[in-house]
Amino acid sequence: MEKITNVEFYKHNVGTLELKLIEKVLRSLFLTTGSYVDELEEALRIYLNAKYVVGLTSCTAALHLACIAAGVKTDSEVITTPMSFVATANSIIMAGGIPVFVDVEKDTGNIDADLIERAITKKTRAIMPVHLYGQMVDMKKILSIAKKHKLAVIEDAAHALEAQRDGINPGQRSFGACFSFYATKSITSAEGGAFSTNIKEAAKLVKKLRSHGITSELAQRIRTGLTTYDVDVLGWKYNMDNIQAALLIPQVKRIEKHLKARERIAQIYRKGFSEVRIDMPREYKNSKHGRHIFPIWVNPKKRDKILEYINNHGVGAVINYPSIHLFSYYRQRFGYKEGAFPNAERIAEREISLPLYPKLKNNEIDYVVEVVSKAIKV
Ligand SMILES: Cc1ncc(COP(=O)(O)O)c(C=O)c1O
Repeated sequence: MEKITNVEFYKHNVGTLELKLIEKVLRSLFLTTGSYVDELEEALRIYLNAKYVVGLTSCTAALHLACIAAGVKTDSEVITTPMSFVATANSIIMAGGIPVFVDVEKDTGNIDADLIERAITKKTRAIMPVHLYGQMVDMKKILSIAKKHKLAVIEDAAHALEAQRDGINPGQRSFGACFSFYATKSITSAEGGAFSTNIKEAAKLVKKLRSHGITSELAQRIRTGLTTYDVDVLGWKYNMDNIQAALLIPQVKRIEKHLKARERIAQIYRKGFSEVRIDMPREYKNSKHGRHIFPIWVNPKKRDKILEYINNHGVGAVINYPSIHLFSYYRQRFGYKEGAFPNAERIAEREISLPLYPKLKNNEIDYVVEVVSKAIKV
């Protein structure tokens, strides 16, 4: 068998169907938001079992518009987690709000729902949980807190397109869920995102806000014969285009097949790493894991050396994530210091993410297990 020396961190699954559909778009008149975006929104709507889906240019855009649509204004507080990609908290600030962090569960990295209530003030407008690595937070608990205090819940579901918990999909019970089609996500258009919701007004407003707040987009005007439009609210320029949609449409059909492939790899990793006593996040019961990221948690004093060893042996591995509250901007603007969120900080010091995608071959999976098992002994 071929000797493996190199395993990429990620490989996308774009193939001939996507190329054919993109060619069709490029040979057509209409490159921007139009019928292909409608088709993608419908495919995602069915997959997510949601009433509405809006196609956008990124998950950051979805989070930003969801905040505005949910009524986040200057100085509104939004409770969220420091253990995420910085886009989560940035989107709150982009809407004029203030991210208020609470710590995470030490054995999963997800926001600790038991800490949310004590962070609520008169200024709180929303809760923004993140389904970290692909495991959904306890939505039942968070939704009941939100209901009691009349808050909106905006789900950062960038890792959780495929996830479910207690039979609930992202976006089904909250104000809405935000998805990413960034280059390393399970379906990708290089950059792209979507908002899903069961609330008609939320979907309508997000759709209007994606195109400068205009009352009808060009494709709609052509379809209906409208000649002009009004702008009755300030919007942004976040509309997904037909080329992005054409890249994504064939991938939607393969979501479950590819999840199954990642699940198999995750099980091989979990078995291999538990044999050498590597810590990994606890996995919830009553839960369907989205398997977006495969994290291991190692000795924080040796983490950087271990990562270096893994990378030097040809295995792509990265850190997800440095804790947001300790970035210079957040320290300077909000006065956060070390020790504020010990569980998030500990995960940030210990985490390493490993390759997890359907194209991984068996000998590559075995090689990752072998290299990582040796790396922890450095
Ligand atoms: C948890 C989380 N939230 C938000 C984002 C932002 O997504 P996008 O790059 O589509 O704006 C990401 C991207 O990787 C993410 O991982």
